[in-house]
Amino acid sequence: MHIVVLGSGAGGGFPQWNCLCPVCQLAWAGDPRVKPRTQSSLAISSDGEKWLLLNASPDLRQQIIATRRLHPHGASRQTPIAGVFVTNGDVDHLTGLLTMREQQKFTLYGSKLTLALTGTSVFGVLNKELVRSVPVQLETPVDTGLGLSITPFAVPGKVPLWLEGAQVEIGTEDESTVGLEITEGTKRFYYIPGCAEVTPKIQERIRGADLLFFDGTTFTDDEMVKLGLSHKTAWRMGHVAMSGENGSMSRLADLGIGRRIYVHINNTNPVLIEDSPERRSVEKAGWDVAYDGMEVTL
Ligand code: MLT
Ligand code: MN
Ligand code: ZN
Repeated sequence: MHIVVLGSGAGGGFPQWNCLCPVCQLAWAGDPRVKPRTQSSLAISSDGEKWLLLNASPDLRQQIIATRRLHPHGASRQTPIAGVFVTNGDVDHLTGLLTMREQQKFTLYGSKLTLALTGTSVFGVLNKELVRSVPVQLETPVDTGLGLSITPFAVPGKVPLWLEGAQVEIGTEDESTVGLEITEGTKRFYYIPGCAEVTPKIQERIRGADLLFFDGTTFTDDEMVKLGLSHKTAWRMGHVAMSGENGSMSRLADLGIGRRIYVHINNTNPVLIEDSPERRSVEKAGWDVAYDGMEVTL
C-alpha cells in the first residue's frame, strides 16, 4: 500500500491565515525550524495508479498540484483519484469536495450522517449522475474495488463545529466521527484524525497494527486556552491531547504498533517546531510528526 500525507495540519492549516500564536509567528517569519502544513487529508493506493482520498480538505487543489501522482493523465479529463472517504463533517474534511466539482466521476464514502451533509446546499454542485455516494455502515468492511478494504468504526467525537447547538455532547460514539481500518489483505493500518478519548476499545482494536495515523491536534489539553486564543480545551473540540496521563502518547504506548504518526496537527502545537522539547518528547515516545508530502509504503 502507498500512503501520501497530502495535508498534515488541522483545520486552519499552518500557519493559519489570521493567527499570530508563537508557532504561527515562526512560520510567518520563515523560520527553518517549522514547515508550513495544509489541512487534513491522506491519499492511499494499492497499485500506485488509482488513489483514494481520506478526507477532502479545503487545500485539495494545492495538494493535488504538489503531488505528481495525483495529476490528471490519459484522456482529456481524467484523474487518478477514484474516490474520497470522509471521516466526519468538519469543514477541513469535507470542503475539498467543492474542488472536485468539474463533472468528474468518483465515489464518495462516508457514514449516512456525514453524507447527508453533502446532499444539500452548495454541495449540490457535485453532479449526482457522476458522483456515487456510498453510505457505509459502522463495523462493516467496504470493498472499494481498488484493492483496499476499509472498515469504519465509531470513535469518541462530537457533531461538526458548524452544527453545534447550545448544548454539545462530547465523546459520543456514533456515526458522526469515525476511524478507518484499512487493509489490502495482509497489512493493516488505521487512520484516526479526530478522537476525543483513547478508550480501551480503541486500544484493543489497534493493538498490533502495522501503522497508525492519529489525531495530533494539540500537545496539551488547555493549549488554546493558555494562549488566550479560545475558551475551548482539546476535549471540548473533540480531540485528545498528546501529553498527559490520558493523552495519546501515554494511552497508545505499548500496543505493539509498527509505526505511529501524528496527523491533524493544529498550528498552536509546539511539536511543529523541529527542535522543541515537545517535539523531542513525542519522538522519544516513538512517534513521527507528519509533514505534507510524507510518503509511507506498507
Ligand atoms: C476540528 O477538527 O476540531 C475541526 O476541524 C474544527 C473546525 O471545523 O475548524
Ligand atoms: Mn479538523
Ligand atoms: Zn497559530
